[in-house]
Amino acid sequence: MSVLQVKNLKKYYGSVKAVDGVSFKVEQGQIVALLGPNGAGKTTTIEIIEGLRKKDEGEIFYFGRKVETIDEEIKKMLGVQLQKSAFLDNLTVKETLELFSGLYGISLKPSQLRELVEMVMLEEKMNSRVKTLSGGQMQRLALAIALVNDPKIVFLDEPTTGLDPQARRHVWQIVKGLVERGKTVLLTTHYMEEAQELADYVLIMDHGKIIAEGSVDELIKMLNMESYLEFVVEDPKTLLEKIPGAKIVNGEKMIVPTKKVEDDVQKIFTLAKNEGLNIENLVVRRPNLEDVFLSLTGRYLRD
Ligand SMILES: Nc1ncnc2c1ncn2[C@@H]1O[C@H](COP(=O)(O)OP(=O)(O)OP(=O)(O)O)[C@@H](O)[C@H]1O
Ligand SMILES: [Mg+2]
Repeated sequence: MSVLQVKNLKKYYGSVKAVDGVSFKVEQGQIVALLGPNGAGKTTTIEIIEGLRKKDEGEIFYFGRKVETIDEEIKKMLGVQLQKSAFLDNLTVKETLELFSGLYGISLKPSQLRELVEMVMLEEKMNSRVKTLSGGQMQRLALAIALVNDPKIVFLDEPTTGLDPQARRHVWQIVKGLVERGKTVLLTTHYMEEAQELADYVLIMDHGKIIAEGSVDELIKMLNMESYLEFVVEDPKTLLEKIPGAKIVNGEKMIVPTKKVEDDVQKIFTLAKNEGLNIENLVVRRPNLEDVFLSLTGRYLRD
């Protein structure tokens, strides 16, 4: 039995099909990532599932039980981190956690409080005011708040947006720890590295629809491609039609799928030479989720 299942979820805002027939399952102990660009419908989807927004259509099942509205019994099992969280600047980390647990009707024992701050690696900040926290620490506090009620399912909406790579790794470590504690995680992200690092199962979302899904390996295998060449060239359009499968991203970078690296590199250099163009910064790399998105939509996830 799945922890969570949604069937044909829909939410339209006027002519904007924010969520347009989304179906998926989340199994116990999994980390599932909803990966997509800005405006794909990730927040709308996750907030409907959390009971924070009304759906237009569709069905939601928690532990096999169909739920029309998120009742108290379900709410107890959910931990929610919103895309934007607001805290009271002058409260300390400890006071903030007490405030939020109070909202759940829980009074945290000192040992539980300690466990919570340890889990998000904020031990040293326990008595610091919220306004003195760094972006990464703030994000971890938001994570701790999502955990005050010891939920079974944790929803994280863009848990690492705006964080530097080190702070991001920190959060990733914490999210992995949640699963070790028996929790199930549904997160949204527009970082393919995040989905690649964390997710057991990835739902790629664009324009309100799931356009591909599977484990990272499965999604990458679908490309059926050995490697990708990336390089910069002044006038990529001249080369575009002459190189099979080539795509231009950000106006100047070319990405070329290849199954025969050496042959294709040689061909590209010859083509460029004939056109009087210089190839710069050529790299050969393995396929990633960005390539999956590009092959499905013709666009880059991050633009
Ligand atoms: N309350 C609302 N009223 C009108 N339109 C909305 C509302 N909420 C979302 N939308 C629209 O629905 C679409 C999906 O928005 P949503 O916030 O779910 O995307 P997202 O994938 O979370 O994007 P981001 O990565 O920027 O957070 C967007 O076009 C957005 O403008
Ligand atoms: Mg969002």
